[in-house]
Amino acid sequence: MSHILITGGSGELGGALLPLLTEAGHTVRIMSRSPRRAGYDSTIEWAQASLESGDGLAQAVADVDVVVHAASDPKNSHKVDVEGTARLLRHAEAARVNHILYISIAGIERIPFAYYNAKLEAEHLIERSAIPYTILRATQFHSLMPKLFLLPATKLPLIGFVPKQFKLQLIDTGEVAVRMAELVEAGPSGRVEDIGGPEVLTLGHIAKTYLKATGKRRLLLNLPIPGKMGAALRKGYGAQASRYGKITWAQWLEREYSAAQAQPVDAKRQTARG
Ligand SMILES: NC(=O)c1ccc[n+]([C@@H]2O[C@H](COP(=O)([O-])OP(=O)(O)OC[C@H]3O[C@@H](n4cnc5c(N)ncnc54)[C@H](OP(=O)(O)O)[C@@H]3O)[C@@H](O)[C@H]2O)c1
Repeated sequence: MSHILITGGSGELGGALLPLLTEAGHTVRIMSRSPRRAGYDSTIEWAQASLESGDGLAQAVADVDVVVHAASDPKNSHKVDVEGTARLLRHAEAARVNHILYISIAGIERIPFAYYNAKLEAEHLIERSAIPYTILRATQFHSLMPKLFLLPATKLPLIGFVPKQFKLQLIDTGEVAVRMAELVEAGPSGRVEDIGGPEVLTLGHIAKTYLKATGKRRLLLNLPIPGKMGAALRKGYGAQASRYGKITWAQWLEREYSAAQAQPVDAKRQTARG
């Protein structure tokens, strides 16, 4: 059994991966900028560390066999995802980590967007490091849609704006976590096949069905996104991964917003993690 550090272990994907790794018998350490949070089993180790400052990274990787690198900050991606990954790799090399598993995003080399450029740079750093690696790219998670597009689109009372023609291949976070747990067991595998969900949908459809599921009424208007990034997303460059996931957007909406579950998804996750 391995000793595994999950950077981003307090996040959405890290949180889904954690029980899979502990149930498989591994010892897991979560890395977070925060001190240990309530609600985690006492067998889960906790390392307070920052990719941005480097504080605590040496202790975070000490005695670890595998690093699952799932920490990221889209709003500060150069400092955290690029420079932070370089820092993490230096410490992991010094600690003689055997395997780093990095989660990246499908289509990033074809979609010109600062955050995606940072993810691509982080991939290159990992490929060039001395640590045997696995890189898995996934498409957007279902749960990203409310946070990124749908809650902002319902801020106004009557109308909502989304880039309706964007094409997305949403995947369930839990299914990505299952694939990552498999890759931990497989050992260093290089760049593996990109994974996505079972269908490609337009953001217009995603928004319309979200409004229905959440009982909100808005006239949905197209938000034009000019330039190469908008064009790449309309062409679906991020939606060409293998159809690994089985859970559809409709099933996810049903699970998250059915009448029995009045609480919105983000509030539920906060509660679950304490
Ligand atoms: N969401 C998607 O649709 C999607 C799709 C494909 C790939 N991915 C990739 O999957 C990974 C996880 O995504 P997610 O949605 O699960 O993220 P998330 O829920 O936003 O979690 C981000 C994590 O990063 C940690 N973090 C942020 N800044 C940090 C810093 N300076 N130092 C240390 N830790 C830091 C946070 O920890 P604390 O706040 O506790 O410090 C948190 O645990 C990311 O690499 C992302 O690019 C996401």
